[in-house]
Amino acid sequence: MKIIITKDYEELSEKAFEIMKGVLATREAVLGLATGSTPLGLYRKMIEDHLQNGTSYRGMRAINLDEYVGLSPENEQSYRYFMRKNLFDSIDIDLANTYIENGLAPNAEEECLRYNALLARFPRDIQLLGIGANGHIAFNEPGTPFDSETHVVALTENTIEMNARFFKDKNEVPRRAFTMGIKNITDAKKVLILACGASKADAVYGLVKGKVTEDLPASILQQHKDCILIADREAAALIGG
Ligand code: PGA
Repeated sequence: MKIIITKDYEELSEKAFEIMKGVLATREAVLGLATGSTPLGLYRKMIEDHLQNGTSYRGMRAINLDEYVGLSPENEQSYRYFMRKNLFDSIDIDLANTYIENGLAPNAEEECLRYNALLARFPRDIQLLGIGANGHIAFNEPGTPFDSETHVVALTENTIEMNARFFKDKNEVPRRAFTMGIKNITDAKKVLILACGASKADAVYGLVKGKVTEDLPASILQQHKDCILIADREAAALIGG
């Protein structure tokens, strides 16, 4: 794993953009994207670059990690909405080439199969990831099998609490979500994982120096051929360097 430690969030976002820019050089790149607060600085830089330098996303595809069960794409808390607001509506990607699980799919099992087939059809050149304080990646919580593919998860009480800040009321937070599985994530050619802030320090330690164990889902990335971690000083506090 290649590790880049930055002085702050701004530098983290710049370094992430440099890596993304390398992938964007391929006109038909397939980007695995993520929601959450950590990628927002990178998305702002992608938008700036599109506006200032004309980098075009017209031939590209974007495939997202996860989506809440029960939320429509128009719901402001859905991840589909998040991606439009924070990236897609400000670049020239064709929305028909942006993919995310359908939170309203009538048959969850079929939706998972559909998504796995899509991932197989469009191999990702890069998969962007955040990391949870407990080492989760996407909605794959500790204990998720490394060979998992797209599935529905019941969110843990902790994740519901963490996400409640985005909703009017904790009771509005969906209890279930679709998520790519760990195998789907590690199938990407390159993985870029971003970690920011002291709350991620334990998880980053496990990711880099811990045992490879399903108790810390991100630890599997130690075995990925092309994984880059960018962490700010606080998140990297326990790994030295
Ligand atoms: P965050 O979420 O970027 O909002 O910290 C990361 C995650 O929980 O995967």
